[in-house]
Amino acid sequence: MSMTDPISEETHPVRLRVNGISYDIDIPPRRLLSDALRHDIGLTGTHVGCEHGVCGACTILVDGKPTRACLMFAIGAQDVEITTVEGLTRQDGTLAPVQQAFKDCHGLQCGFCTPGFLTTIAAGISDNPDPDQEQAREMIAGNLCRCTGYQNIVASVLRAAELQREEDAS
Ligand code: FES
Ligand code: FES
Repeated sequence: MSMTDPISEETHPVRLRVNGISYDIDIPPRRLLSDALRHDIGLTGTHVGCEHGVCGACTILVDGKPTRACLMFAIGAQDVEITTVEGLTRQDGTLAPVQQAFKDCHGLQCGFCTPGFLTTIAAGISDNPDPDQEQAREMIAGNLCRCTGYQNIVASVLRAAELQREEDAS
């Protein structure tokens, strides 16, 4: 850090593995993972709402587990596999079951909360491939949506599980 420029911040080289690709970035030690994904790597699918771990909009998968990206420093995420909403889409561009289900069931309106729901549900139906209504509600209990009233999101969870089972059986 320059003694003459108190605003400049020391940066560190950090390697993040996101959606199967390694990214080398230079960032300040306190850069949030959510900011690193959006601003340093350019994956803006991860949304930031509350920045306090409450709303779930920033949920990504860390080694397959739903994790609040706004509660992690990027520097602490170097030895894990990160999956963002962009990483759910298949390599050939087709939608993942959970994405197709939101489309089929009108599971979104403004879409701000949607990336966090998609990652959460992708992990949820991997853990529980055949959830009932109550289990679907529990799966999304940590994610807030201001638009939909949740009915269509619960329907999307059930449809996503159905599509995933069909895919796994084929
Ligand atoms: S932005 Fe991370 S939980 Fe709200
Ligand atoms: S669709 Fe608008 S906040 Fe959920």
